[in-house]
Amino acid sequence: MIRIAVLASGGGTNLQALLDACAAGQIDGRVAVVLSNVPEARALARAREADVATELVPSKGVVDRPAYDAELVTRLSRHAPDLVCLAGFMRLLTPGFIRAFGPAPSSRGCPRIVNIHPGLLPGFPGLHAQRQALAYGARFAGCTVHFVDEGTDTGPIIVQAVVPVLEGDTEEELSARVLQEEHRIYPRAVQWFAQGRLALEGRRVIVRAARAPSGHSLRSPWDD
Ligand code: GRF
Repeated sequence: MIRIAVLASGGGTNLQALLDACAAGQIDGRVAVVLSNVPEARALARAREADVATELVPSKGVVDRPAYDAELVTRLSRHAPDLVCLAGFMRLLTPGFIRAFGPAPSSRGCPRIVNIHPGLLPGFPGLHAQRQALAYGARFAGCTVHFVDEGTDTGPIIVQAVVPVLEGDTEEELSARVLQEEHRIYPRAVQWFAQGRLALEGRRVIVRAARAPSGHSLRSPWDD
C-alpha cells in the first residue's frame, strides 16, 4: 500500500477520483495528505470529508519560490509519501521540490511526482490547454498523465486519453469531456505506479503487463 500526497488548488475532482479509487480497492494505496495553496479550495473540503489529513500553505503574495517550495517539502515529508500527485495545483514547482521527490529505490528509478494535464502533450502545454486546442482547430483533444520534471508539462508520458472536438464545442463543453477521461486515467496510472509496473527507458515510460490471477498469461495494462 503506497502513501499518496495530492496537491490541489481548486475543485479537486481529480482528487475525488483518486480517493474513490483507493476506497474501491482500485489503487493499492491511500491518500495520506492533501496539500493546497488556496485556503478556500474545495479540494481541502473533499479531503476532510474523506478523513484525510490536510496541509494549507497559502501562496498569495509569495515571492521567494525556493523557500515556499522548501516549506511544501517539509509539510509533505511529515506524511512520508511514496508518490506526489499534482491534481490542478496551479503553481510551477522549483528544482528543489522536484529533486526532493526524485527517483528512489522504492520507485524503481521513476520520479515520485506525477501530474494530470488536460491536453495531449507535447501539444498545448501550460494553462488553458482546452482553449488552446479549440483556438488551434484541433480535431482531437485529451489528457495526459506524466512524470514531472523541471520543465512545464515536459516530463515522461505515462498514459493519455483522447476525446473528439465536436462542431460548436465551447471551452466548457470540451473541458467537461476531457475531465471525464482525466478521472478514468489518473487512478489507472497511480495504480500502475503502486504496483511497481512503471519503468523508464530514456524518456519512454514502460508499463509492464500484470500477471493474470492464474499466473500463466500476461495481460495488457488496460485489462486490469
Ligand atoms: C484539471 O483539468 C487538471 O487536468 C488540471 O486542472 C484541472 C483540475 O481540476 N491540471 P480538478 O481540481 O481536479 O477538478
